[in-house]
Amino acid sequence: MSDLLKKLEETTAYIKSIYSEPIAAGVILGSGLGNLTKELEVVKEISYSDVPHFPVSTVVGHSGKMLIAKLGGKTVLVMSGRFHYYEGYAPQLITYPVRVMKALGIGALFLSNAAGGVNPNFKVGDLMIINDHISFFTPNPLVGKNEEALGTRFPDMTEPYSKDLIAKAKEISASAGYDVKEGTYVAVTGPTFETKAEYRLIKIVGADAVGMSTVQEVIVARHGDMKVFAMSVITDLGIREEENVITHEEVLAAAKEAEPKLTHIFVKLIESL
Ligand code: HPA
Repeated sequence: MSDLLKKLEETTAYIKSIYSEPIAAGVILGSGLGNLTKELEVVKEISYSDVPHFPVSTVVGHSGKMLIAKLGGKTVLVMSGRFHYYEGYAPQLITYPVRVMKALGIGALFLSNAAGGVNPNFKVGDLMIINDHISFFTPNPLVGKNEEALGTRFPDMTEPYSKDLIAKAKEISASAGYDVKEGTYVAVTGPTFETKAEYRLIKIVGADAVGMSTVQEVIVARHGDMKVFAMSVITDLGIREEENVITHEEVLAAAKEAEPKLTHIFVKLIESL
């Protein structure tokens, strides 16, 4: 058995020794977007540091625990705190929790992130349903030996984000009276925010939003044929004036503002599974 499969067996055995019932969905929350956890009826709380082979999160605003909980009448596994490439983790380690979810039998993955708005029609605090992505600026987590037991060597990416879940999310947003945007997310490595020239490039390649997460996790989820839904909170605008410099604190504050809407959409979507 390969090293990865053996590790997955050990990690899932540990989680199953704590909780062995089926889990409907996995949730990975972005920077400043951990408040969905307040809606949870937590059944088990597991610190990342206790999970065999799990990395430990370092960035401010990420707490680093796995919650098994009831949400919208379903059982979910919530990763409160995710791993980023800019923290120095290998893409295979960043996406290891997604492998674990799949190995636990979880069929759907929900992700949120804080992102910079590139589309000129966007404003700070907007929500954007991700309907496509561009991964070329970040290392692909599937580079290396392919584990056939986990997925095919050359996964199709024509529809990484579930059309069905996107349609439902739009219905939920419309009934709640939210003006939700939709678009392409471009992943960059960070940790630097973009220069003006970089923003121009990112706009030209077709981005509506830019951020430092999500895409590697989505690629691994699709490798494992999981259904994926992802949403960005627009926390700052790329096309901005010179004096308007951006800080991590501003990103977190903007994320907080939009969070209740995002939480509502996630809860209703999970309820509908
Ligand atoms: N660029 C990249 N990542 C981000 C941004 C941004 O402007 N805002 C939040 N995450």
